[in-house]
Amino acid sequence: MTLVSLKEILKNAQDGKYAVIAGNLINLEMIKAGINTAERLKSPLILQIAPVQFEAAPLKFIGPMMVSIAKRASVPVCVHLDHGFKLSEIQEAIELGFSSVMIDASAYDFEENIRLTKEVVDCAKKHGVSVEAELGCVGDEGVAVDMEKIKDKLTVPSLAKEFVERTGCDALAVAIGNAHGPYIKTPNLDFQRLEDINSAVDVPLVLHGGSGISKEDFRKSISLGITKVNVATAIHQAVGNGIASINYKDFFKASKVIEKEVSEVIEAHMDNFMSIGKAK
Ligand code: 13P
Repeated sequence: MTLVSLKEILKNAQDGKYAVIAGNLINLEMIKAGINTAERLKSPLILQIAPVQFEAAPLKFIGPMMVSIAKRASVPVCVHLDHGFKLSEIQEAIELGFSSVMIDASAYDFEENIRLTKEVVDCAKKHGVSVEAELGCVGDEGVAVDMEKIKDKLTVPSLAKEFVERTGCDALAVAIGNAHGPYIKTPNLDFQRLEDINSAVDVPLVLHGGSGISKEDFRKSISLGITKVNVATAIHQAVGNGIASINYKDFFKASKVIEKEVSEVIEAHMDNFMSIGKAK
């Protein structure tokens, strides 16, 4: 139980054929709701935050809170830096006690992505910290993904094999037609590509842009190697809608609403990802 590495939490998911939700839970209410839901449902959980959220929740303040809450949990919890771009922010997360970091060098060419990822792997390994990397480039537009337009950004299975071997990363984020932000219509994920990537590499695979993917597509993705699904937009939208629906002049009422909304989103995803009862 308690704080575990990404490698450990995803190895169990790979063996048990389920996926773990990685929720961008970025204040006390959200984190409490995530942990309470995971404990109630006996599910593992990944708590994560991305640099784009540091303005609302500076890493030096929220990081120690994430780590200390994870250490007290009765279920396995990984504390992960999502989309680390700079070595300095990755090092800060490691110093704060995060058990996992992502180096997102997916905007660079193949060789530069390998070089930057390997640099982070070498540093993180010394501290027993896991590393997620990304090959191909998951879009940010969050629209109805046009597969024709993004075909050059999708993960190439043969390159994934070389990338994992040369970097030694512990988990690989794939671009298979997924995108960050709200989808206008259900995305058309390239499952053949996912299957080929999964056959080419043995590390667990990560699906970014988890808000708005159907239960059927989640289940199919999990059967083809996805073990971590990132969910941010669905959580933050639920919080926004919940607050809008009450008299938000009452802070304590708003605080309870945030916890309730986050809990519902997390529970629905844990059910979709078949992680309920899998804490061990
Ligand atoms: P969504 O905001 O689309 O859920 O994506 C989250 C994500 O992938 C964070 O890295």
